[in-house]
Amino acid sequence: MTEREQELIRLAEEEVKKNKEVVEGDSYRLRYHLMPPVGLLNDPNGFIQWNGTYHLFYQWMPFKTGHGAKFWGHYSSEDLMNWKHEPIALAPSEWFEKNGCYSGSAVEHDGKMVLFYTGNVKDADGNRETYQCMAVSEDGVTFDKKGPVVELPEGYTAHFRDPKVWKKGADWYMVVGAQSEDLTGKVALLKSSDLKEWQHLGAIAGSGMNGLGEFGYMWECPDLFELDGVDVLVASPQGLEADGMKYQNVYQAGYFVGELDYESGVFEHGDFIELDRGFEFYAPQTTLDEQGRRLMVGWMGVPEQDEDKHPTIAHKWVHALTLPRELKWVDGKLLQVPVEELNLMRKDQLVEQSDLQLSDDGIGLVIGLSKAFEMSLFLEKAVATFEMALSDTVQLTFDASDSVFSLRRKSFVTGEWETRSCSLQALTELRAYVDTSSIEVFLNGGEEVFTARIFPDGTAHERITLSGVGKIGELRVWELEG
Ligand code: FRU
Repeated sequence: MTEREQELIRLAEEEVKKNKEVVEGDSYRLRYHLMPPVGLLNDPNGFIQWNGTYHLFYQWMPFKTGHGAKFWGHYSSEDLMNWKHEPIALAPSEWFEKNGCYSGSAVEHDGKMVLFYTGNVKDADGNRETYQCMAVSEDGVTFDKKGPVVELPEGYTAHFRDPKVWKKGADWYMVVGAQSEDLTGKVALLKSSDLKEWQHLGAIAGSGMNGLGEFGYMWECPDLFELDGVDVLVASPQGLEADGMKYQNVYQAGYFVGELDYESGVFEHGDFIELDRGFEFYAPQTTLDEQGRRLMVGWMGVPEQDEDKHPTIAHKWVHALTLPRELKWVDGKLLQVPVEELNLMRKDQLVEQSDLQLSDDGIGLVIGLSKAFEMSLFLEKAVATFEMALSDTVQLTFDASDSVFSLRRKSFVTGEWETRSCSLQALTELRAYVDTSSIEVFLNGGEEVFTARIFPDGTAHERITLSGVGKIGELRVWELEG
């Protein structure tokens, strides 16, 4: 480790210690989500199950609640639920990463954990350079930096970052988020036989490609994987205009389903579909675990979307990661299902009811002061309208007459109600995970998901009110361990 690296790590650790009380004194501190110990967290990085243990890294700015020269923070877990905060994995100490160890991924090779990340470099005039770098670990805790392995290929601007690496047959492949010289967003594909020498095969998707039309000026954090017989490309494009219920956030995160021809480097795909319909979701990353599950975690935040207005900033921290979701491809649909390990967190069952007739009057349930809970609801197919209010912070509504499901929340900026919606043919199942300042709602077995930060009045009892036209088959609420 260089002296500069040691010094940066020392300073970051000091920052954690110095602010521990202020950070942990925040009533909005989440109970069962991953957060930064201080400062700003953004993208999940290097998600991998290695020698049985899950590792999840994150983009981290320890010194302020804004962006800057990022570190890689590091969590590990045996069960995806109980996480241990590990020592800092990467600090931006070297010339090729001096303005940030930006996002990337992890693979296993010869028993070692190998990280790929972007070395972000800016000169005094703000000109950018980008290097895709490698770091190797034998113990899963300390990382030996090997420096850049990919220089910027021709045809792209220096907005070329976020390498995601996987193995197919005997070869390694890497997708990189990119901007081509005509200033449109792309995903570049590279290939290697030894993880060190990389050959650029070309752009496989992007604005103006594969029949897509204009589709943004930069694509970040790509991920490409096979899921039950199809190839899925996940990406976070920037520069899409809002279009009806779609693309309402400042930046989007979604996927294309298709088939990648590894020989020709051609990826034929269908439409872009947003992964999450809520307010805060961006830059997700997946991994294939030892059980063969495709797991995904996202950043519960969006760049430049009122980031500086989050109430937690008063306590010197901002943002969190989402819960892990398992991806499935069923009958031509991508489903996102909360991982079954989440059931381990269930403590007391607070509510269990069946055959509840919905009406205008509203059924009220008091959850109590505990604000971390899971709620699971099965509805009869014919539910015509459904409304659920969580205290006075969030409302979930479904109307079968226009097939629209919405999540409304009180804005943490203005206090006004604001809405995100998607079309949904019928509402049959709803699962919600509520933490002290977040909600993740999974509809119909994961057909649609809504993620949002919420900031309820800390002193009030949590109440759920249900109304509508139709019938609830079964309703259960569990308090969750945190
Ligand atoms: C996405 C992103 C990545 C970049 C990282 C920097 O949120 O902008 O493209 O690598 O964050 O923290």
